[in-house]
Amino acid sequence: MSMAERASQTKSSRGQDGDDDLRRFRTLDELEAMAGTRLSQMAHAYFVGGAGDEHTLGQNTSAWGEIDIWHRVLVDVSQRSTACDLFGRPSSMPILAAPTALHKLAHADGECATARGCEVAGVPMVISSLASTSIEEIAAAARCPLLMQVYLGQDRELGRDLMARAEAAGVVGFELTVDTPVWGLRRREIASGFHIPPGMDVVNLRRTGGGTSSAGVGIAEVLGWTISPSVTWKDLEWACGLTKLPIFAKGICRADDARRAMDAGVRGVVVSNHGGRQLDGTPATARALPGVVRAVEGRVPVLVDGGIRRGVDVLRALALGATAVQIGRPVLWGLACGGSAGVARCFEILREELDRAMALAGCPSVASIQGDLLKQG
Ligand SMILES: Cc1cc2nc3c(=O)[nH]c(=O)nc-3n(C[C@H](O)[C@H](O)[C@H](O)COP(=O)(O)O)c2cc1C
Repeated sequence: MSMAERASQTKSSRGQDGDDDLRRFRTLDELEAMAGTRLSQMAHAYFVGGAGDEHTLGQNTSAWGEIDIWHRVLVDVSQRSTACDLFGRPSSMPILAAPTALHKLAHADGECATARGCEVAGVPMVISSLASTSIEEIAAAARCPLLMQVYLGQDRELGRDLMARAEAAGVVGFELTVDTPVWGLRRREIASGFHIPPGMDVVNLRRTGGGTSSAGVGIAEVLGWTISPSVTWKDLEWACGLTKLPIFAKGICRADDARRAMDAGVRGVVVSNHGGRQLDGTPATARALPGVVRAVEGRVPVLVDGGIRRGVDVLRALALGATAVQIGRPVLWGLACGGSAGVARCFEILREELDRAMALAGCPSVASIQGDLLKQG
């Protein structure tokens, strides 16, 4: 079945209760509002929240809106395409599903449904190392390109095993998250009594010296063992030596860190502040991106995530020099609203918005989205 056929299938797809025509969701905000009514209070608090006073969380979204686009007129945009290549594979648009934990909190079919939604949308999915479904099951569920996100914990061998398993399952690359020496202080999680419900777990990780059962308050208590404050550049270098597949460093905000990551052997960077969930006060990714793009000098691709909620934000990110963007929470909202069809709808909204924004800005192709859009000609 062609991608267009699959995409058109989702047009008539219905929500998990069979009564929600997903087509009635016109923006990601509408998906978010509906997801708020579907999720348990605890799952919603876990997904929606940020760290500290949630300053960075709010700035992530608003900063994109502050970037003016100096649109070109009278360009023939009758033939347009949002398509591009990502990780050597064709993609329907320069967007990936960001790695987010525990999709079974959003929908019983969890990460398998997300992967199927990504396949329908024609975009890659990054699997979180805190996924609630095994890597092998996710890989069997869908044919979208998969990447694996990795945290290095106290036991570095766990990370190595995870990478080997993911490679055997056919992933096309890795994102090594580098912004998580400890978990950010997430008050909503604590207030909601965050725990992993019985029958659910971070099944791809095995806690050394015990089971994986997890009960506690806030992610720091429940999943503290999955990360380590002793991870350094040496570990990144070590990880880069473990595979021939590309490793991207995820969580970069500084130009000098981007350069160091390239020295360590990464084949790309992800400008990210973990969706405002780590250090509150760190800059919005829209503001961090230009410095990293300058530092990288085109040597490796630069991805960015955080607060991207509109197709026009994708246009802004690409004009600033990003190769592609990642979407975190909205994918979870789609998943909560309608399983795989909800995820597909989330991406369909973004693709339609991006297509329209490209037409209005005078950009018929992804390659034609350049930095000149950001200044007076
Ligand atoms: C509920 C949730 C769980 C997340 N889990 C992970 C994770 O396991 N690993 C990781 O590197 N980033 C994780 N992130 C961060 C995302 O990959 C991404 O950086 C962020 O969500 C992008 O911001 P956005 O949600 O505003 O689009 C998570 C984010 C959320 C909201």
